[in-house]
Amino acid sequence: MKFFIDTADLDDIRDLAATGLVDGVTTNPSLIAKSGGKFLDVIKQICEVVPGPVSAEVTATDHKTMLQEGQKLAKIAKNVCVKVPLTVDGLKTCKALSDNGTKVNVTLCFSAAQALLAAKAGATFISPFVGRLDDIGSDGLELISDIVQIYNAYDNLTTEVLVASVRHPIHIIESAKMGAHVATLPPAVLRQLFHHPLTDKGLAAFLADWAKTGQSIL
Ligand code: E4P
Repeated sequence: MKFFIDTADLDDIRDLAATGLVDGVTTNPSLIAKSGGKFLDVIKQICEVVPGPVSAEVTATDHKTMLQEGQKLAKIAKNVCVKVPLTVDGLKTCKALSDNGTKVNVTLCFSAAQALLAAKAGATFISPFVGRLDDIGSDGLELISDIVQIYNAYDNLTTEVLVASVRHPIHIIESAKMGAHVATLPPAVLRQLFHHPLTDKGLAAFLADWAKTGQSIL
């Protein structure tokens, strides 16, 4: 499973990219607003830090303007992945951009039917929002399972399932068990994955015993 990070915060991106575990980055207009930076500059800087796909979202809602925005975003760097919302105009834009070789991430997916349409429109990634479905009392992970099953049933559907709106490590583990290709994690959730109290306790005990030997490796 590939790990993207879901943030426009360059300090977090640099810090986590240094682990070697970050395969890409996703942003959205809310995350860009939170970063306080200028959109095009922020995307350019992220693309310089992370060589994998960096999602940059269009903000127009009509196909013609979305396409112009998408083409402009795609010119920022080779690894820009244009993000479009799952609307009729968004999917028309997805088709046009992907036909020209631009990577497209279709966002705001909340049903398996929508995911099927995005795949037919040539999306590189489909982003089902698990956390937001859980928030309204639906089962976000069930949607991941449905989409993985549908995509696996057809060799010609090459769209990758990008689990989005992740809230906690269980979303990652369960999605990985289902075979989802990618998850985009808020920095705090990626950091959570490293930790286990028994690791901390075990390491403290090993180091205490080692100190008693008076030895050093170097
Ligand atoms: C995905 O690309 C979105 O940026 C993101 O995962 C949305 O998550 P949220 O529901 O926590 O805002």
